[in-house]
Amino acid sequence: MSYAEIYAGWQADPEGFWMEAAKAIDWDTAPSRALFDQDAPLYEWFKDARVNTCYNAVDRHVAAGHGAQAAIQYESPVTGTSSTTTYAELQEQCAALGGALQARGVGVGDRVVIYMPMVPEALVAMLACARIGAIHSVVFGGFAAAELAVRLDDATPKAVIAGSCGIEPNRIVPYKPLLDEAIEIAAHKPETCIIFQREQGPGDLVPGRDVDWHAAQEGVAPAPCVPVSGDHPAYILYTSGTTGQPKGVVRPTAGHLVALNWTMKNVYGVDPGEVFWAASDVGWVVGHSYICYAPLIHRNTTIVFEGKPVGTPDAGTFWRVMEKHKVAAFFTAPTALRAVKREDPKAAMLSGFDLSSLRTLFLAGERADPDTIEWLSDNLQIPIIDHWWQTETGYTIVGNPVGIETLPVKLGSPTVPMPGYDVQVLSEDGTPLPRGELGALAVKLPLPPGTLPTLWNAEERFVKSYLSTFDGYYETGDAGYIDEDGYVFIMARTDDVINVAGHRLSTGGMEEVLAGHADVAECAVIGAGDDLKGQVPVGFLCLNAGTNRPADEIVAECVARVRDQIGPVAAFKQAVVVDRLPKTRSGKILRGTMVAIADGKPWKMPATIDDPAILDEITVALKGLGYAGDG
Ligand code: COA
Ligand code: AMP
Repeated sequence: MSYAEIYAGWQADPEGFWMEAAKAIDWDTAPSRALFDQDAPLYEWFKDARVNTCYNAVDRHVAAGHGAQAAIQYESPVTGTSSTTTYAELQEQCAALGGALQARGVGVGDRVVIYMPMVPEALVAMLACARIGAIHSVVFGGFAAAELAVRLDDATPKAVIAGSCGIEPNRIVPYKPLLDEAIEIAAHKPETCIIFQREQGPGDLVPGRDVDWHAAQEGVAPAPCVPVSGDHPAYILYTSGTTGQPKGVVRPTAGHLVALNWTMKNVYGVDPGEVFWAASDVGWVVGHSYICYAPLIHRNTTIVFEGKPVGTPDAGTFWRVMEKHKVAAFFTAPTALRAVKREDPKAAMLSGFDLSSLRTLFLAGERADPDTIEWLSDNLQIPIIDHWWQTETGYTIVGNPVGIETLPVKLGSPTVPMPGYDVQVLSEDGTPLPRGELGALAVKLPLPPGTLPTLWNAEERFVKSYLSTFDGYYETGDAGYIDEDGYVFIMARTDDVINVAGHRLSTGGMEEVLAGHADVAECAVIGAGDDLKGQVPVGFLCLNAGTNRPADEIVAECVARVRDQIGPVAAFKQAVVVDRLPKTRSGKILRGTMVAIADGKPWKMPATIDDPAILDEITVALKGLGYAGDG
């Protein structure tokens, strides 16, 4: 069947479509139906089923005779090690860690925060939680203690599972002191911390609270898989919104299993047994869905890569790992490949590697620039597929379903909506706009299975953030248009979220940190275009009257403050002191105009601007930082 037929089939009978997809999951109690819409506009899927995620990701493959198949290939150029974990070994490890958690009183519905580097044990920790019905919340290692503390207070975990350190190319990042500091800051105190000690940087254990990963598992009974109801939260993943308070995206168990499994063949075109590699981090949604869950649910081999695209040891590292493991499909953020292209523009590092197993390369997480797509396409001679999705959805909203048919690629477009998603472009008043017109991208409710049913502990915020702007639609926060062939183009965010090296960050959150500096009266952070990272944050600081300390000193303190309170991942390295910020007469900061000036794009003087002369000062400041060129 063609994409058009499958999409039309879903439109005609969504219930039938998802019940058919649900047959690929091993249920303890099969769902009686797919959609539960009695609380619309809040929806649930497969709510009356009972099922276990770890069973579907691990145990059922062992039971079917695939225990010897590699589940995880670990490649760690930063430590110079690699290893294989078979499905049978993974089952044992998940059961043992699940047992250790149970022995410490962690059960169904309890939260467990996971703070781990890219090691196989990160996946074991996630799956062990799923096995016993605990709800994990993975926190990315590049966040500072204060960010971890916010998540501890919101998720109120009974236990934490952490690695003692992460390894960046230029330094060891000791996680354990960050964890200790976060627990110190947080009002909520976890009862147990299970620490995976790494020889590169072991941590000190706090007696009575902390226990070593291996010691915790000694003598405990292996945990069986505990079935949970279809709407049970599989995990919470915090993502950036418009303020410093992150949003706890809830992932529902049954829909997650059904939808992710469906994507492996249809969106990514891989069969069970093949090797699938998402070069991301378990701290992000791509890592949750496509390093951990989807490949394992679908019985693929997944790769856990602890390294960077360049410098670990060189720009050939991706190709080397692909050849070694005969990777069939590869997925990463465009920024990672821009880094490779910048280091090796002629793709000299590619020659000599046999990449005949690689059929498709997928990009997501930020806009895929045509230059990078063309460079990849020319050098790899395989389809380079952009696709658009969000933490909230957990999988593709708009893509090119190579497992169904590979549609012609239009540069700049992630292609077409996937079954489950009725994507519309809306005007400010919520009217669907004609083809070709730019507007807010929204998805007609209900969202498909596996997408967020709510925000953790924040249903009102969920409704306000996503469901209240356009009646009957989910607001994506992205703006774009749909062309005459139905191809969707993603142009910009409509909120304060910026995308730095494929990492989603809140400029509002950074502004809150800057505003906390004693000398800062007012501030703004914008995302300025960057050749490598897509966007980078730039801060504008207005100082309190009478402050006579050197601007450089205050800027340096502000940079340190963001690194300390949000984390190195914010990549906040540039700020300038200005007299005033450009505002509308009603006091709204004109961030959009500042971004256009920074990027050297044409812009119009906003009719509502309070004092146009301020923009000259902003332009000079941006030029001083190397922005605001001629475009
Ligand atoms: N733990 C601790 N620190 C981390 C970290 C982690 N897990 N990940 C990143 N950091 C630090 C980096 O060391 C860097 O610190 P520095 O300011 O001291 O140099 C800082 O956070 C910024 O990191 P990043 O933006 O990643 O920049 P980079 O220069 O280290 O690497 C790329 C640039 C493009 C190579 C890298 O961002 C990359 O591979 N991106 C892929 C994006 C990705 O996987 N996105 C997920 C969605 S698909
Ligand atoms: P995250 O939740 O971190 O996955 O970030 C989601 C956001 O990243 C989206 O709302 C978009 O703004 C952006 N994004 C993700 N994929 C794409 C893509 N293929 N093209 C353009 N922007 C994208």
